[in-house]
Amino acid sequence: MTMDASIVSYYAKRAAEYERIYDRPERREDLRRLREFVERTFAGAHVFEVACGTGYWTEVAARSSAAIVATDINEEVLAIARLKLINTRRTMIVRADAYALPFRPQRFTGGLCAFWWSHVPKSRLNRFLRGFHRIFSPGARVVFIDNAYVEGSSAPISRTDEHGDTYQMRGLDDGSRHEVLKNFPTESELRAAVHDMATEVRVELLQYYWALSYVP
Ligand SMILES: C[S@@+](CC[C@H](N)C(=O)[O-])C[C@H]1O[C@@H](n2cnc3c(N)ncnc32)[C@H](O)[C@@H]1O
Repeated sequence: MTMDASIVSYYAKRAAEYERIYDRPERREDLRRLREFVERTFAGAHVFEVACGTGYWTEVAARSSAAIVATDINEEVLAIARLKLINTRRTMIVRADAYALPFRPQRFTGGLCAFWWSHVPKSRLNRFLRGFHRIFSPGARVVFIDNAYVEGSSAPISRTDEHGDTYQMRGLDDGSRHEVLKNFPTESELRAAVHDMATEVRVELLQYYWALSYVP
């Protein structure tokens, strides 16, 4: 299986157990701060979300935004997101590949990617960002949030490949084991990745997470 196919099938299998990750008590305060940040940032915006999964952050952004198009490649997670957002107006849940977004250029005023950057191979990041930025109107604000590596709390890094991508071994309830590409960029790597394609770059480092926001 290619790395692409394995990350897709891992999240399809994990769909029903995915949101347990948001129940860890020690992470509650950081998550509360991130939810506030997302809600505040997207007030009144027309938001496009990549890799929305089960819709945890879609639901948060929907509280204040004007409208959201939330996308993911897996029908298994989108089915859960649709149920969660059934009574939320102005929210569209659509199947789409983050690497080939089928949307008109310059359409959205806000962009959200939660826990996706860490799964993008370093060699694909620049291409992904350029494709993603095409869909925003001038002055739009983009937000990425993702995991910091925390010794003793994060799953250990099992290996680093020749491109510098790191991997974890993860288990699911059915007993299956999966090798998952998961990168933990430093603040300077985050800034370097967008330095020639963004203004107003802000990085916030929390204990368990980081947030990057900018105007593409
Ligand atoms: C770590 S989960 C994040 C889910 C959600 N954003 C959240 O934070 O709760 C990563 C998501 O990426 C999705 N995914 C994997 N490959 C993808 C691709 N090529 N295009 C779009 N989504 C993809 C998976 O289905 C999964 O829902």
